[in-house]
Amino acid sequence: MALLITGGAGFIGSHVVRHFVNRYTHYQIVNLDALTYAGNLENLTDIEGAANYQFVKGSITDSALLDQLFTQYDFKGVIHLAAESHVDRSIAHPMAFIETNVKGTAALLNACKTHWSTFEGRRFYQISTDEVFGALGDSGLFTEDSPYAPNSPYSASKASADHLVRAYGETYDLPYVISNCSNNYGPNHFPEKLIPLCIHNILKGKELPIYGDGLYTRDWLYVTDHAQAIDQVYHQGKNGETYLIGGHNEFTNIDLIRLLCEQMDARLGRAPGTAQKSITFVKDRPGHDKRYAIDASKIERELGWSPAHTFEQGLAATIDWYLEHEEWLAHVTSGAYQSYYDKQYGT
Ligand code: NAD
Ligand code: TYD
Repeated sequence: MALLITGGAGFIGSHVVRHFVNRYTHYQIVNLDALTYAGNLENLTDIEGAANYQFVKGSITDSALLDQLFTQYDFKGVIHLAAESHVDRSIAHPMAFIETNVKGTAALLNACKTHWSTFEGRRFYQISTDEVFGALGDSGLFTEDSPYAPNSPYSASKASADHLVRAYGETYDLPYVISNCSNNYGPNHFPEKLIPLCIHNILKGKELPIYGDGLYTRDWLYVTDHAQAIDQVYHQGKNGETYLIGGHNEFTNIDLIRLLCEQMDARLGRAPGTAQKSITFVKDRPGHDKRYAIDASKIERELGWSPAHTFEQGLAATIDWYLEHEEWLAHVTSGAYQSYYDKQYGT
């Protein structure tokens, strides 16, 4: 059984690819990734020689390549993670987000529609974000019934993609599932996002930039718990349904970074309070969503999923991983990776 995973060289995708390659040895896993600044084959060195794994470098926007792959492999399913994923970059470079997240998703859906002679036993799985629902106030949780109200070019591009998936289901009967997950953290997270950026900056003695008043709230989930949820939604989810995935783990950014500082000081044998001195409040992100939080009771009730890691365990494992992979951090923050993005997309 051939399964196409897109974006498998990125943060979450690499954990999903590893999970599927190791657990489902009878599947042929094809990982299609354009290797943008965020994609890195170093994330997958442990499985690159596996008999059931194939990497293809290319873009989901390349319909000719999709035609070739869908002809070569009779994919039974697509798990679609490839995306431009960083809100700040979407503010600086919105068109790149439309290109990959909207047009790329449309190209993939069209490949399924064109090449799947029967939809029997097939499934398109859209990996999405809770950011499509916009911002919560001080109370309440997102549910599967929350209306879409995206506020950033990133979340609007993901919302558009989700709508296209749903529309292909309604119009062409394409079998699909969608999941919308909260903020992930863990190994292989690109150091532009809050947690790995701050780990990197603590190690380098740089400032820890906190946007606005730092009272923005996110619900954090350890990345392998998301990979496990994706497995369960892919195999057990119902066609046409949405599942919200979250960690029941809300932190304001400032509390989270203070906790990270404490753990980093302890881990590095530095005096308590050392890292916190680098916290710097900086200009806020435009359109900054106040709070995200997930009611994950549907996936817990219907599919029996719940996170296996507490935040304390997950954060400790994340810090350990970054301390053990300083060469990874040096590589992904090298000039070659940074300039790649600007060369590809401009403004
Ligand atoms: P990431 O930026 O780390 O990885 C994205 C991957 O997609 C990279 O490997 C990149 O090379 C690849 N890619 C980008 N454009 C491509 C293209 N045109 N063709 C093929 N490959 C391309 O992102 P991530 O954080 O791992 O997120 C993965 C998915 O999960 C995204 O769809 C994102 O919206 C979603 N998501 C992320 C989070 C989170 O907290 N990171 C939460 C919920 C949902
Ligand atoms: P981020 O990791 O970019 O994820 P998202 O915007 O998808 O939630 O940001 C998490 C939170 O941290 C968000 O409220 C913005 C904030 N933030 C900072 O305060 N400083 C930073 O340097 C970054 C990157 C984010």
